[in-house]
Amino acid sequence: MKQKERTFIMVKPDGVQRGLIGEVISRLERKGLKLVAMKMMQISPELAARHYGEHRGKPFYESLVSFITSAPVVAMVWEGDDVVAQARNLIGATDPRKAAPGSIRGDLAVFTGNNVVHGSDSLESAQREIGLFFEEGEICSYQASRDQWVYGE
Ligand code: RTP
Ligand code: MG
Repeated sequence: MKQKERTFIMVKPDGVQRGLIGEVISRLERKGLKLVAMKMMQISPELAARHYGEHRGKPFYESLVSFITSAPVVAMVWEGDDVVAQARNLIGATDPRKAAPGSIRGDLAVFTGNNVVHGSDSLESAQREIGLFFEEGEICSYQASRDQWVYGE
């Protein structure tokens, strides 16, 4: 079986505080995506600046860094065919008021600043973000018995 694509997913401080860790994980699991790394941590200002470096200088940047460092997050790596796009679909639009019903943000959030979950927006972002949060040795490589049922392989 070929190596599946990986993406970086994070339950943000609001998701952790609202008790939505399990809900987020469950939705990704039920889709058929595979969890290969996970840790709870409090993000330092330095790591926040690296993770959200593309947004430096934007009007919401300071509040974004303040928010993402305000309480623990759950950082994860998920694997699957086309997983970057698949996860972004499940997460929904940045503004939860515009996110489709059925998506995580569409169902569980109302405010852009507190939109529950982060997902990498491209393969390049995924590789960069995974590298910021995880050592390669922390990422599991395993065969899930369900894969043959998910992918028909
Ligand atoms: P994320 O990176 O967190 O998965 O979100 P995203 O790709 O959907 O959105 P992005 O453009 O990368 O923005 C990162 C986060 O910054 C906050 N934001 N606020 N007030 C605003 O206009 C605004 N725009 C973005 C959101 O919390 C967004 O998730
Ligand atoms: Mg983004």
